[in-house]
Parts: sequence; structure tokens; C-alpha cells
Amino acid sequence: MDSFFVSTPIYYVNARPHLGHAYTTIVADSVNRLHRLRQKDTFFLTGTDEHGDKIVEAAEKNGLAPKDYADKISSLFKEAWPWLEVENSAFIRTTDPEHVQCVQRFLNTVYEKGDIYFGEYGGHYCFGCERFYTDKELRGGLCPDHLEKPRYLQEKNYFFRMTDYLPALKEHIQNNPDFIQPERYRNEVLGMLGDELTDLCISRPKSRLTWGIELPFDSDYVTYVWFDALINYISALGWPDGEAFRKYWPGAHHLVAKDILKPHAVFWPTMLMSAGVDLYKGLRVHGYWTVQEAKMSKSLGNVVQPMDMVEKYGLAPFRYFLLREMQFGLDASFSEEALVNRLNSDLANDLGNLSNRILAMTNKYFQGLVPEKSELSPEDQEVVDAGLTALDEYVRLFGDFQFSRGLGVLWAFIGRLNKYVDASAPWVLYKEGRTERLQNVMYVLLEGLRKIALHLWPVMPSSSRELLGQLGTDFDLHRVELDQEGGHWTGLTPGVRVAEKSNLFPRRELVLKQDQKPRGSEKKQRESETSSREELVSFEDFKKLNMVTGRVLQADKVQGADKLLKLEVDIGEKEPRSIVAGLARQFDPGDLHGREVVVLANLAPRKIRGVTSHGMVLAVSHGQDMVLLTTTEGTEPGSRVS
Ligand code: MSP
Repeated sequence: MDSFFVSTPIYYVNARPHLGHAYTTIVADSVNRLHRLRQKDTFFLTGTDEHGDKIVEAAEKNGLAPKDYADKISSLFKEAWPWLEVENSAFIRTTDPEHVQCVQRFLNTVYEKGDIYFGEYGGHYCFGCERFYTDKELRGGLCPDHLEKPRYLQEKNYFFRMTDYLPALKEHIQNNPDFIQPERYRNEVLGMLGDELTDLCISRPKSRLTWGIELPFDSDYVTYVWFDALINYISALGWPDGEAFRKYWPGAHHLVAKDILKPHAVFWPTMLMSAGVDLYKGLRVHGYWTVQEAKMSKSLGNVVQPMDMVEKYGLAPFRYFLLREMQFGLDASFSEEALVNRLNSDLANDLGNLSNRILAMTNKYFQGLVPEKSELSPEDQEVVDAGLTALDEYVRLFGDFQFSRGLGVLWAFIGRLNKYVDASAPWVLYKEGRTERLQNVMYVLLEGLRKIALHLWPVMPSSSRELLGQLGTDFDLHRVELDQEGGHWTGLTPGVRVAEKSNLFPRRELVLKQDQKPRGSEKKQRESETSSREELVSFEDFKKLNMVTGRVLQADKVQGADKLLKLEVDIGEKEPRSIVAGLARQFDPGDLHGREVVVLANLAPRKIRGVTSHGMVLAVSHGQDMVLLTTTEGTEPGSRVS
């Protein structure tokens, strides 16, 4: 029997499961379910990544030892998945003793091969990313991800001869177009391989980090968290000689978002090559969910909690929306409005109405029993043929990770069936006593609905089962032959009783929380609430603001805007920053030359009157005046305000 293996990233235990984690995990579950329907022997792996600086820091903040903290958050992930109807085959934790042993065995294998050496290295280390950055990779001297100045570290460490394997990796990617998909990410990786990549630093001295897996060949060091984490994909299968490894590894697909492309597309395959393990079959990379055009983050307060959405709108609409709304590979924007629209239009209107109509008519014309089918008229046969083609295409697209397109094809067929009801007008056939045609039309509709319900099991398992139950068939995974479904339109047994009605997807209204409601009547109340209960931020939140001193090198009026000045400010980076400030009414450009100012440097860039502003100059409004924030002594540009 063919096997199929799909994994999600193992999630860091420094945050609770949110929409982003839920998306990847639901995608993995859906793909896995599709292969289960196709009677493949499948394995679906997820879990948590628990070592490294990030976790130590989060544990400290919560006053817990790293392991206790990891236990707590890991169980939140583990318990979240069944609520989302995610059925993973295993849940791995990098603190599992079997994983620890496996990582040490892998390290020994690579070490004995001569691919690990000891050396000294100096570089810019970002603690948030837990990695070194080269000058070229930094953006304006800052970590491109955290927008913080990395610390320069010089230390002795172990290195993996990754560069030795890059030519072979490049060749593999070129010869196997399916290895990394969608294409844009394949190209991105080929681009990376053209850059100057260095060997990978795979250790951290215990003098600065002890929360990790000890190197089997030097007890003064622990393993770099990525070298440890990536190995989960084979440790969970019992590498090197486990039965599961032998069975599932040849069909391995890793599912990740674009944020962790490089470790999966470059570190991991080269590690596998060195250890003499076959490469995984495919890496599938998706984009990012944003909320109100911004990355989800605690500080912006826009983190979407999957369970909130499920409570408000139901699980099937949530899973369907995620798969339908995001074009796999591209970013997508999440909003409750969009979710409610999809729910009302696609589920309540299209599929819901179709099911209600079909069941009601079967009850009215055939006392609720599936009718016999005889030879079909050309119009009826056309619908059947369109259905077979659509379902075949859906399975192909879904298996190819093109979920949105696949569901689009399925919904076009649902639309076609709704039109077929109108065009064939069973109520007229009934009135005119054209029983044979009426039987055929109703059979075509009932069987079409059964096929749709079955094909939706990967997307919305319970609703699919329920709909199948309403059509008088039990869902038995072991008896489903999805690959045979394309060859017939005879799945329903005549005489079987169907339900009286469906009502699976009632229409819903948008449910907004108090603080999401539009401005207006509640505005006053909100204002008085905020003034009486000042909002507190944690020190961690404050630390996210990168405020530095700077010197104004140039100031000019912005054409057509009487309040704005465009400033060029030296904040200790290679190039001065262009910042647009609303200071033109209070200052002549010449007054500002040479002034020391305080700049919020990690504010997201914004276009103001056609000029992009890369930060904000801080000032205090004082009556009609603006007073610039500065220091009493004068500082080097780029000095951090804390
Ligand atoms: N621990 C590493 C992965 C190690 S795998 C060997 C890690 N963990 S993480 O908790 O940061 O998870 C990152 C993953 O979470 C992304 O690759 C993606 O699967 C999911 N997402 C987190 N936020 C996301 C969005 N906003 N949008 C879509 N998915 C995102 O990196």
C-alpha cells in the first residue's frame, strides 16, 4: 500500500496556539484525510519545539523552570488539535527522551563522517531568531525580523560543513521540480544557494545556554535549536531502524510557512545528505495570515484565537474559510467579516440551500426514499459528466496543495446543481406526472450531494458525516473508495430513507466584541473607560519599541502639505533615514539642521503624501507649539533610549 507522511513545523512553546498555527495544522490534517480517503497508509506528525534561548526567556518571564513551562504550553497545543478536528498520528516534543537520543545519534553520525569541526566565529547574533546574521543580511544594522540591533558575539563553536553539500542540493532542486513548491519558493531557495552561504554553527556554549541537547562529543556545549528541532521529523518515526521510518519516510512531505523556508530547504536536506538519509519528498510552503494588513502580534492586540472563531461561527465554517480564502503560497488577510461572508454565501446559501431543497423534494415526491434511476436523458447525463470531471479535478488540486482552487471547482459544481434544480423543475415534472424523469433528476441530485459530502470530509469531517447520514449512508472510512468514485454515479441505494431536512449551515451575523464595534455611540463610553483605567504595558512590550537618538542632517518642506517636513536623520546606520514629520507649522526647515532628536526606528514604513517615512520623530505638543524630544548631554546617533 502506498504511504503518505505529512508534518507541520513543531511549534515553539513561547506562545499559545493561534490562527497561524491552526492554519498549518488544519491544512496538514485535510491533506492527510484526503490520502486516508484514498486508502493510503498515512502518518501525520505535529508537536512542539522546546529548547533554546526563546523558551528560557519565556519561562523566566512566567516564573517557571524551562521544562515546567514547556510542559504547560506544549499541552495547550496538544489539547487544541482535537477541538479543531485535527487527527494527528503522533505528537512529538523535543524534550522527549527518544528524540534527545536520536539527535545525539544523528550528531555522532555526522561527526564521524568528518562533517563537524570546531572553530571560532564572530557575528551578529539575534537572540530572538537564535542565529547569527551576516552584515549583508541585516537591514539597516537591525535584524530583519525583529528590527532589533543584534549583539556581536565572538565565540568558539562547532560547525557543520553545510557548504560541502550545497552543489548537490542545488542539483537536486533543479532535477526535482516537485521538491519545493509553490514555484516562487523553489526559486527563492535557488536564489539563496547563489548567495554566499557559510557553514552552519550548530552548537551553543553552556556558558550562555544550558537548555538544549548536549553534544555527544563535547559536554561543554548544547545543540543549536534548529539542528535539534529538524531531526524531529525522523526521530518521531524511529530513525534509523524503526518500522515507521522505513514505511513512511519515502512519502514525506513537510508543510511550513515562508518564515522557516531556509532551515527546511537548506539546513535540513544538507543535514540528511551528510547523515546518509534519503531526502524528504516535498516541501510545501504557504504564506502568512495578516490581520488588518499587519502581522499578528501581541503588542498590536490582533492575534486571532482559533477557539474564539469556532465558538462564534462553528468549526466547519472556520476550517472551510481557511482553506478557501488563502491561495496556498500567498499571504492572505483574515477578518471576521470575510469569514461570515463565506459562511453565508458558500455554506448557508450554496451548499445549505442545495441540501435543503434536495431533501425537501425527496420527501415531497418520494416519501423520503431514494428513487430508482433508469437511463438518463442527455441533459441529466451532462450534469453527471460535469460532476465527475469536477470531483476528479478537486481531488487532483487538493492533493497538489491547491486547496482554494480545488474548493472553487467543487463550488462551481454545487452552483451547477442548484441551476439544474431550477432548469429541470422537479415540481413541474411532478405536476405533469413525468415520474421517470423526476426519478432520474432526483437521483442525479441526491448522488451528487452524496459525492460532494464525501469529498468534503477532509475539509469539515463532522459536517460531512452528518450530511452523509442525512442521505441515509454511514461514513465508514475503511469502505470508502475515493479513487473509484470517479467512475460511477450509483453510490446511493434506491429505497434508502433520507432525512427530512438538513439545516447544517445556518446563516450567521457578524459577532463583534465590544472593542471591535464601530466608532460612534460607544466611543464616549470607551474614552471614559480608558481614562479611568489606564492601560498598562509590560516591560517586554516596551522593549519592542526601538527608540534611538539621531541628528537631523536635512529638512525640506513636503510639496502640497503645509504641515509636513521631510527629514533626513542620521541614526547611526549606513544611510540616513527619511522621516516625514508634522512639524512644518512650528519649525522652519533651517531651524532643524543639526538638532538632536529621538526617533522611533522600528515603526512600520508608511507613505505620507507620496513620501515614504521610515520612522517617527518624537515630540510633545505644548499648546500650539511642538517641543522636540532630545537629551540633555548630546549622544552618538543610534544610542538606544531605554
Ligand atoms: N519551532 C520552529 C519550527 C521548527 S520545525 C522543525 C518555529 N515555530 S513557530 O512556533 O514559530 O511556528 C512557525 C510556524 O507557525 C509557521 O511556519 C507556520 O506554520 C505557523 N504560523 C505562525 N504564524 C503564522 C501566520 N501568521 N500565518 C500562517 N502561518 C503562520 O518556527
